[in-house]
Amino acid sequence: MSYLVAKYSPRSMKIIDGKAVAEEMKNSMKQEVLEYQKSTGRVPHLAAILVGNNPASKAYVGNKVRSCNQVGFKSTLIKLEETVSQDDLMKEIEKLNQDPDVDGFIVQLPLPKHIDEVKVTLAIDYRKDVDGFHPVNFGRMAQGLPCYLPATPYGITILLERYNIETAGKHVVVVGRSNIVGTPISILLSRKSKMGDATVTLTHSKTKNLHRILLDADIIIAAIGIPGFVKEDMVKQGAVVIDVGINRVEDESHQGPSKLVGDVDYEHVKNKCSFITPVPGGVGPMTVMGLMKNTFKSATKEIYP
Ligand code: GUN
Repeated sequence: MSYLVAKYSPRSMKIIDGKAVAEEMKNSMKQEVLEYQKSTGRVPHLAAILVGNNPASKAYVGNKVRSCNQVGFKSTLIKLEETVSQDDLMKEIEKLNQDPDVDGFIVQLPLPKHIDEVKVTLAIDYRKDVDGFHPVNFGRMAQGLPCYLPATPYGITILLERYNIETAGKHVVVVGRSNIVGTPISILLSRKSKMGDATVTLTHSKTKNLHRILLDADIIIAAIGIPGFVKEDMVKQGAVVIDVGINRVEDESHQGPSKLVGDVDYEHVKNKCSFITPVPGGVGPMTVMGLMKNTFKSATKEIYP
């Protein structure tokens, strides 16, 4: 048996427990909130706008509200009809921009087709943009300036740090170039910074030789939204695999309920990895923590005094 095979045998494969890290972070944040409350007489306040009835969006926003309750934040959920006009949505955003009691807010995506998402993102005051989607925050991130980092990339960097996974000099292959995950994580990991200094390849639907590129990756970040896309034969022995996908699929036997799976063929890939995130319980809980950390930073005026 070669050294590598021995080192990365299934027994030494480590599951990255995002749920446990998020719980730990919530407990320490709870204490910080108490101290903040003692000194200011108020608590951080996150608001969320949810448009329509998308079941996944409802579940994500529900998780965010629950996390606020757990750490002692105030939260406000604004539910709007699927048919809400662009103007009426813009008015709600403006109200939150102006409300001095709201530290930060998000508009849950995706939005119905008749709504212009770019206009919505631009309408949010960047000082309250705790999703980190506004071009001011995105541009500041790209230049390494203080900003609200997008929640999922932020959560991923916290996980890598917690598990002492070195990024400097490593080849990171990101699969998927969304504005929310693929593009920002590729920028963050390539920057000259603590959880950066990686050599990043950002791959997408037009990439040629994806299979070969993935086989060269020390760290794979799968954020493409296709269930089980990353297969065992695409992963180098000992690679770190971060699965950002959250896909609801039917139970194969069509007997049981639907289940959540990632963008990685977990059962077959896991034995080749040094570290892997499960779905659920990997990146998902850390996305919420990224948002909570940004909201706390907004309350304490850490980014924009
Ligand atoms: N939809 C999927 N992920 C996110 C997120 O992080 N923030 C918002 N606002 N919408 C999303």
